[in-house]
Formats: sequence, structure tokens, C-alpha cells
Amino acid sequence: MTKAIPTLSIGDHAVRAAHYVNGAWVDEGATFQVFSPIDQGMLGSMPEASDLLVDAAVDGALAAFPAWAALGAEGRLPYLQRFADAIVDRAEAFAQVESHDAGVLLSRLQHGIIPRAALNIRWFAEAALKLQDKELATHQAHHYVRHDPAGVCAIITPWNSPLMLSTWKAGPALAAGNSVVIKPPEWAPLGCSILAQAAEAAGIPPGVFNVVHGHGPTTGARLVANPRLSRISFTGSVPTAKIIAKVAAENLIPCSLELGGKSPFIVLEDADLDLAAATGALQYRNATQVCLAGTRFLVHEQVRDAFVEKMRAIVEQLVIGDPRDTATEIGPIIHPRQFEKVQGYVERAKAAGARLLWGGEPHPFGPLYYKPTMFTDVAPDAEIVQEEVFGPVLVMQTFTDDAEAVRLANDTVYGLGGVCFGEVGHARAVAEQVRTGFIWINSFGIRDLAAPFGGRGQSGIGREGGDYSFEFFSDIKDVIVPTAPFKASFAHR
Ligand code: NAI
Ligand code: MG
Repeated sequence: MTKAIPTLSIGDHAVRAAHYVNGAWVDEGATFQVFSPIDQGMLGSMPEASDLLVDAAVDGALAAFPAWAALGAEGRLPYLQRFADAIVDRAEAFAQVESHDAGVLLSRLQHGIIPRAALNIRWFAEAALKLQDKELATHQAHHYVRHDPAGVCAIITPWNSPLMLSTWKAGPALAAGNSVVIKPPEWAPLGCSILAQAAEAAGIPPGVFNVVHGHGPTTGARLVANPRLSRISFTGSVPTAKIIAKVAAENLIPCSLELGGKSPFIVLEDADLDLAAATGALQYRNATQVCLAGTRFLVHEQVRDAFVEKMRAIVEQLVIGDPRDTATEIGPIIHPRQFEKVQGYVERAKAAGARLLWGGEPHPFGPLYYKPTMFTDVAPDAEIVQEEVFGPVLVMQTFTDDAEAVRLANDTVYGLGGVCFGEVGHARAVAEQVRTGFIWINSFGIRDLAAPFGGRGQSGIGREGGDYSFEFFSDIKDVIVPTAPFKASFAHR
């Protein structure tokens, strides 16, 4: 008799506490505890994949690859449409589980993240149909440049948005004809288990979609060291990215690395201050455990006081609480270790003489809740100005002209995103000088699947999104057909 697959019950929903490898559920291995930041309760335990199982996942993915690749984009489309449908069918389970596991707002999951996760699969499956071979006509040949499937792609995702990020990578990887092995984050592993349940229900062929759970330095490290991988796509921290890039270099495996930042939020003297202040407060979304948040406020001296008072009035009204309540705007920090990290940044900033505009201490709602915080009066090289906190702690500096705004905006090792408020022509002129992968003018968070996403400097290498994802997840091949009689001559070039 086969052993029953262990499950965790979250509300009415059952999540498989197992790996999904080669179309089968496997629960071997040591276990680790799954923690909920809502009430600091334990949700149960998940297995940690052994080296052998990680290797088996890559072997299975490699075996499944040729048939999946041979289907072509049209052949893969119905599978991926069913996969997207299966995500939508499980929306309530995803919402409850991800809210418990990661502390993400239930309403945001229901209305934003889960529909987007399904779209990540559906959109890239459809976009793959439209991928055109690039044609080049030269004087002696006709070239057509193909996107060939690459092979097995390892996908490593962080805890702040595992479902969104896993589908953002798996969607284009699968649509381009690759098989995938996902290593979900150990602080929020459950959403990816439901994702595997959805893949299974959709009839994705065994081995095409795999999930191995476990910690980064063990399961994750084993996965990225596998020489049979063709791609590694990672979102997470800079130190981990450097470890992965070194390992990948040993095997010459291309990596896409997206690594957070310390993005500028610029308020020019001609900005709409009400909109800028309301958008400023939005940077506390998900307790600022968001790579693309604007966390370094750069405000023109002339409008600083007015901007501060407008933003303060909004921040004072923010509802901090249980992420399952519809009224809640900011939930908990994911884990006690992250909470300590955030608190450490705040205490060191205070000790270094930074002045608090608001916040600066835990929120009384519960043990992992922290007040939205804003520091000012800081040296440009202060830790709080330069390092990513990944918690609800922002910092504000002022400037007197555009050149100074640009200089401060670029005074960081990071270069992920940015926000710039001002008269649109003025804001564009400033934004174009900011060295980041993207920048929003008089807005925030507009993300289209066709648009490139990624960072410069320590914010990462490569771009994903639209055709950029297909470039990364494909092997580009030029097929050359001579248009004039070809002479096999040694003198011929
Ligand atoms: P991390 O970079 O260590 O973890 C991200 C993922 O990488 C997890 O799935 C982890 O298991 C895996 N991983 C860790 N070591 C690995 C290794 N040697 N080989 C393969 N995979 C490995 O991030 P962590 O420790 O969870 O967060 C630390 C800080 O990173 C945060 O405070 C924040 O500043 C930043 N961060 C940035 C994110 C972003 O969206 N860019 C997301 C999460 C964290
Ligand atoms: Mg958790």
C-alpha cells in the first residue's frame, strides 16, 4: 500500500506537505516548521528535500523536457491554460494559505496577487504563440533567428511574494518549452505546494513542473549546483545571489538575478503633493517587504514641510492589523528574525542621530507588527540611507535643485526602481538621469507583463518580463539559408 501524502490544514484548505517531483508527491526527508506571522503559531511541518531528491527532480525535468519542448507553443497552450484555470479554481485556498504563511493581506491576495499569478501563466503561454522568428535579409543569405527551448530551469523565490514570483518565472519558462524545478522560500513554502497541486490537476506532464522544499543553503544550494541545469532564475538578497552566481559560473549556467534595492522616491517642487503623499504612504504596503518599494525619499526643500505634513496625516490613519481583516492596510513582518533585523536598523539609526518623523517602535497590535517609520536628518552615507531594510522603515533627505536630486538618487550601490513626482516634463527629465531598471512618473506599481523588470548595479543582472523573459528562457539560434549559390571555396569568407 502506498503511504498517504501528509497534508496541513489551513482553515478549510488542505495543503500537501510534500515535494512534487516527476509527477509524484514525495514526503521523504527531515522536516522544518512552517510559521504564521499572524499569531506566531505553527502551521505544521514541511519536508526538506535531500540531495538525492533534488538530483532526481532535475533528472525528471531533463527526461520530460524533449517531449514538452517538441509540443511547440501551440501544443503547450491548452496545458498552460488549464494550469491558469486551476490556479483560479484554488484562489480561496491560495489566499487563506498565503495570508497565514506570509502575512500578506487577504484582500490583496484575492484581488491582486492570485489573479496575477494565473495571468502570469496564461499571458506568457499566449505570448509564446506570437513569438516571431526574427528575419534578417543580408546580401547573401536569409537568416531566421529562433527561440529554442533551453532545458531545465531552476527557480528560486523569496518569501515576500512566493506565488507571484514563482509564476512570473515559471510562466515564461514553461511557455518557452522548458521544464522547471522550483525551490520555494522556507519562510513561506505553502503557496508553491498548492501551485504544484494546480499543475497536477491541469495535467502538466510529469517532470515538467517540480517543487522541492527546503532551506537555501541545503536544498537550494544543491539545486543550483546541478550542472545539467540550463538556466537559474533567482529573486532574493545580494549575498545569496553572489553565492549562486559563483556556483553557476562553475558550470557556465546563465542566471537572472533580481535583488531588491533602496529605490528613490523623488518629490520635485512642482509635484502634486496630495498624490505624492498618498503614494508615499503606499510604500508601506506589505510592511515594505517589497523589493520595488521607494524607500529613500528625496524631497525638494521648498515643499518638504508641506509634503511631510500631508504624508504624516495619511500615515496616521493607516490601519495596522490582522491581514485577514478587510479594513487592514498593513500586516505583520513575516518572521521574528526579520522583525529583529528591522528593529536593529531602527535602533542603529537612532543611535547615529537620525531624527524620527514618525514611528520608530513596534506596533501594539501584536508581536510582529511594526509602526510605519520615517527617519530624516541623515548623513548621505548613513546605514539607513544605504541599506535595504525590508520592513516599514523609510528615510527622507532634501535637495535644492534637480542636479542634487539626481546625484542623491544615484548615490547607492543599488539600481532597481524609483518614483518621481513633478510636472510631467520636469519629472521625465529627472527620471531619465536616474540609474535604475525602471522608474514611475507620478504613479507607483504599474506593472505590465510585457514590460521589462530588473535592476542595475547590486540590484541584479538581467531583465524578465515580456520578450525579455523569452530571451532569457530560450536558446537563441540563427538559421542561415544562402540566397545566392554557395561556393565551397577556401577563399570564400
Ligand atoms: P535569501 O536571498 O537568503 O533567500 C531567497 C531564496 O534563496 C530563498 O528561497 C532561499 O531559500 C534561497 N537560498 C538561500 N541561500 C541559497 C543558496 N546558497 N543557494 C540557493 N538558494 C538559496 O533572502 P532572505 O535571507 O530570506 O532575506 C534576507 C534579505 O534579503 C531581506 O531582509 C531583504 O533585504 C532581501 N530580500 C530581497 C528580496 C527581493 O525581492 N529582492 C526578497 C527577499 C529578501
Ligand atoms: Mg510562514
